[in-house]
Amino acid sequence: MNTTRTYRITLLPGDGIGPEIMQVAVSVLQRIGQQYNLQFEFQEALIGGIAIDATGEPLPGESLAACLQSDAVLLAAIGGYKWDDLPRAQRPETGLLGLRAGLGLFANLRPATILPHLIEASSLKREVVEGVDIMVVRELTGGIYFGQPKGVFALETGEKRGVNTMAYTESEIDRIGRVAFETARKRQGRLCSVDKANVLDVSQLWRDRITALATSYSDVELSHLYVDNAAMQLVRWPRQFDTIVTGNLFGDILSDAAAMLTGSIGMLPSASLGESGPGVFEPVHGSAPDIAGQDKANPLAQVLSVAMMLRYGLDQPEAASRVEQSVLTVLDWGYRTGDIMSEAMKPVGCQEMGEVLLKALEEFN
Ligand code: IPM
Ligand code: MG
Repeated sequence: MNTTRTYRITLLPGDGIGPEIMQVAVSVLQRIGQQYNLQFEFQEALIGGIAIDATGEPLPGESLAACLQSDAVLLAAIGGYKWDDLPRAQRPETGLLGLRAGLGLFANLRPATILPHLIEASSLKREVVEGVDIMVVRELTGGIYFGQPKGVFALETGEKRGVNTMAYTESEIDRIGRVAFETARKRQGRLCSVDKANVLDVSQLWRDRITALATSYSDVELSHLYVDNAAMQLVRWPRQFDTIVTGNLFGDILSDAAAMLTGSIGMLPSASLGESGPGVFEPVHGSAPDIAGQDKANPLAQVLSVAMMLRYGLDQPEAASRVEQSVLTVLDWGYRTGDIMSEAMKPVGCQEMGEVLLKALEEFN
């Protein structure tokens, strides 16, 4: 007899379209739970603008505590125009960075896979993007996002000087490097490390450590690119990439470029993982305040984030595959939200997409 496993999941719906897409994700998770004998205990917590409005802080202590006590965290999106002019400590983004630091989520996995259904949605030519399947492994708790000193300081002349520091220790490079080599090993065995070693000392150390690590992963083929060239290669010939590993800022930029290869950022999930403890699973896209509350949002990236949570956070790969399969099925059936709409397809809103996903989940019974 199958025993039921219980998982505590913290839900962070956040701002903008967050609550709408989260609702779809939760209904998918509940159904998949019934199918695989998994029980989910959900608790909702505040982050981002909605947290600022309620408590004055973008990541209240009790939200972080709730996350720390759970098996995994499902996050939707944060931010909006309303909070853009607040001091940095009270911005939604600061809450997200606090969550990453607070949970020690140093490894951020951002897949960019092109689905045959959506090839026409890419801004690049079919022959360039067909077959693209890239995993960007971004370092997430170090580098210039967190390095000290930082701030805006007054010089003796009265002029102001803004400072951020790009810094990595050897151990920080090694731990993200190991995640990247392990990831590449499970994929096509090719890893490209991206840095700016021709100019930056921190990047030279990065390159030296990644090169040294490669001796322990002789089955993985390692290459190096400077970040400017990597940006160019991503749009020139993206199929050359399998797994990319890079620092926090370069990863932020390159993962957006990789996402756009696939046509819709509304389709892409991500996983942020630490050494141990709960991971955070969230779509790559933002809170899209311009369409919030209008039932127009594409919930598929959120649903694919559920799949990443099942796979990387809860070690339930079969349930994860089934969720992924349900997404492919609704696309096969022709359902499209506005962002991925093309001729002769069936337009649906966020809620209806959720309903057809539940139907698709029944397909394999
Ligand atoms: C991302 C976002 C964040 C980042 C912002 C919202 C802080 O752009 O997750 O890529 O810069 O890391
Ligand atoms: Mg970004």
